[in-house]
Amino acid sequence: MTNPILECQQLTHVYRVGDSEVIALQGLDLAVDRGEMVGVIGQSGSGKSTLLRALSGLLQPTGGSVRFDDLQLGSASTHSLDQYRRDDVGFVWQTSAENLLPNLTAEMNLRLLLDFHSTENSIKRAHELLDRVGLTDRRTHLPAELSGGEQQRVALAMALANNPRLLLADEPTGALDAESSADMFELMGQIQREDGLTQIIVSHDGELARYVDRVIRIRDGRVSSENRWDSGTGEERGEALVIDSIGRLQLTREQRDALGGIDRVTAEVDEGAITIRPVEEGRSS
Ligand SMILES: Nc1ncnc2c1ncn2[C@@H]1O[C@H](COP(=O)(O)OP(=O)(O)OP(=O)(O)O)[C@@H](O)[C@H]1O
Ligand SMILES: [Mg+2]
Repeated sequence: MTNPILECQQLTHVYRVGDSEVIALQGLDLAVDRGEMVGVIGQSGSGKSTLLRALSGLLQPTGGSVRFDDLQLGSASTHSLDQYRRDDVGFVWQTSAENLLPNLTAEMNLRLLLDFHSTENSIKRAHELLDRVGLTDRRTHLPAELSGGEQQRVALAMALANNPRLLLADEPTGALDAESSADMFELMGQIQREDGLTQIIVSHDGELARYVDRVIRIRDGRVSSENRWDSGTGEERGEALVIDSIGRLQLTREQRDALGGIDRVTAEVDEGAITIRPVEEGRSS
C-alpha cells in the first residue's frame, strides 16, 4: 500500500468509568487504500465501535494517531474536526432510531440534512439519493412505515448526502434478516464501484466477506488477522496474521492450545520462515 488515504498508528483507547479503566484499543495499526472497502469483524467488546468512533473524529483516542488524507485528527483544530465530520465522513449506525428522525418521511429526513449542507435544489437531490438506494416509491413513508432493510437504505442515502470521502458503518445490518443484509451489502458494494468511495463496515455477519476487498479481525483492541479476496478470481487468499508496526503478532486460541498451554516459545528463523516452539518447562529459567 503506497499511499493509504486512512491510516492509524498504535491507536490506543482507555475508557474510564469511576475508578475502573477499560482498555478498548491497544496499539491498533490500520492502513486503508483510497476506494477500498474493508470489513471489520471481531467478538463483542473487541473494540470495533471504538475504532469507528476514533476514525470518525467522534472520539479522541487516548494515544496513537489517525490520519485521513492530509488531516491528522489528533492535532486538528475543533473547526477542522467539525469540518471533517460534516464534509468528509458518512456514518450508518445499526438502528433506524439512531439514523432517522421518526416523525419525518424518508424524503423529509433527507431534505433536512441536505438543507443543513446548503445543497441546491434539495428536493431533486433527495429524490436522486432515494432513487439510488432503490426507494423511489417509498419517499413519503415514515420510518415506521418502512421495513428494516428499507430504513437502513434510507440511512445509507442520508450518509451519502454530503458526498463523503469516507463511509463508516457500524453493524448496518445488525437488525436485518439475511436477505435484507445481502441487499444492503450489495448496494454498498455498488456504491463503491460507482463512486470509488472508501468504506469501513463493522459486522457480525460472515456474509459481508463476499462484498468487501478485505476483512480484518480485531481481537483485544488490535488487528490480529486479515483475509483478502483475489479481485480477479473472487477467491479467498486465506487468513494471514498481521504483524503490527512494533513487531507484535497475536496467535489464535487454537494455535495457543497447540502449544500445550505453555506461554514461552522460541522463534527460530530458517530459510525465510519462523518456527515457533514451546519452551519445555525444564529449559526455562
Ligand atoms: N463509553 C464507554 N465507557 C466505558 N467503556 C466502554 C464504552 N464504550 C465501550 N466500552 C468498553 O470498551 C470495550 C470495547 O467496546 P466496543 O464498543 O468498541 O466493542 P465492540 O467490538 O464494538 O463490541 P460489540 O460487537 O458488542 O458492539 C468493551 O469492553 C466495552 O465494554
Ligand atoms: Mg460495537
